[in-house]
Amino acid sequence: MQGFGSFEPDERGRLCYLPVVPPFPKLDDVWGQLQRATRAVEEFDRALAAFPVPDVVGKLFARLDAVHSSGAEGATTTFTDLLEYQSSLGRAKDPEDAREVAATAEAFDELSAQGEAVSYIDTALFIHRRLFERASDPMVAAGAGKLKVHPNGTYDPESLGATFFYTAPASTSQALAAWEAFTAEANDRPELVRQALSHWWFEHIHPVPDGNGRVGRLLVPLALRRKGALGHACAFLGEAVHLNKNVYVDALKDARRTGELSAWTRVFCSMVAQSAASNLDRLEQLGQIYTRWLAATKSMRSHSVVHRLVPWVITKPTFTVRDALTQLAGTVTFQAMNTAIKRLIDLGIVTQLDGGGRDRLFTASEVIRLFEPIDVSSTSSSAAMLP
Ligand SMILES: Nc1ncnc2c1ncn2[C@@H]1O[C@H](COP(=O)(O)OP(=O)(O)O)[C@@H](O)[C@H]1O
Ligand SMILES: [Mg+2]
Repeated sequence: MQGFGSFEPDERGRLCYLPVVPPFPKLDDVWGQLQRATRAVEEFDRALAAFPVPDVVGKLFARLDAVHSSGAEGATTTFTDLLEYQSSLGRAKDPEDAREVAATAEAFDELSAQGEAVSYIDTALFIHRRLFERASDPMVAAGAGKLKVHPNGTYDPESLGATFFYTAPASTSQALAAWEAFTAEANDRPELVRQALSHWWFEHIHPVPDGNGRVGRLLVPLALRRKGALGHACAFLGEAVHLNKNVYVDALKDARRTGELSAWTRVFCSMVAQSAASNLDRLEQLGQIYTRWLAATKSMRSHSVVHRLVPWVITKPTFTVRDALTQLAGTVTFQAMNTAIKRLIDLGIVTQLDGGGRDRLFTASEVIRLFEPIDVSSTSSSAAMLP
């Protein structure tokens, strides 16, 4: 087994890894997993295109991915917590944790809305800035959106001093330039494999002080959409990484040690496939819920606020009266909104959690349950763990 890349000492003599262009694995060695991932993610992509309500990726699936991708790194904010934090109440049992998860989802929203002009490096730094610019530690906040200035490493019993150091700060810019060219290149190689290798490479450079996992995983769906492989940025990894963190990290590491990327590529593809299959299932169930809601509200007066509320609630299933009024800015009175929400309660579409006046919090628990397999209807701030 022959590893690849090289090690160079930093100014204190620590040996820092300098990756080389990762070689494409033989297609025969990854074919089954690649086919499965391609099929799963394309099917999810098509279902998203056909879904009757727009922006369902950003509003729900990117939020779920942010929860999982952050959960894989120790965050405890659940999907329920995130939605409550993103309501006008802005509250969370661990506000710093919730803020980082929300920032990941918001960075995705902003990047999805933006043009395609920015480089992948700038995209990564943009996500990093959003993640840390409001960190409570002023040192961390000052480094938001900037490349690392100190070497970063991870525990590795096989490395000198039991620490494996990623690319040295002095070499990071140059390493990223090579990574950028590779990530942006388009030829007849399968794009999923290219992005698998790009992700492996990004993680081994580890260009920012912290957040490399979350930033790197978010780049995958964004790059695949940008490259035209998919219509939506929907090739998420977070859920599968959260469920199989050790497999993911071991595969990243083994590829470096062996210099052979087929096993890593298979793991990456399996994770993309797993997340896409779960998400497709959720989307189908979401569609059924929406159809039921439309049927239940069909007979209401055509100008009823309820008809505007239903498509909004399906992607904003936890909201306050204030949120709903902001959404329908200026066109609906407080009274009319109250009446419409009351209708949704009578129909069993939403339930009230707590709060008073404009801060009353409502939730459509059957939607939440799709994204969080626990019953959250009885508590506004569930501490339940993901499976
Ligand atoms: N031994 C390793 N070799 C290469 N990459 C690794 C290794 N261990 C972890 N990683 C990558 O580093 C990420 C963690 O880096 P970090 O900067 O702390 O990001 P985050 O704060 O988002 O977790 C993991 O999610 C994984 O992608
Ligand atoms: Mg970290």
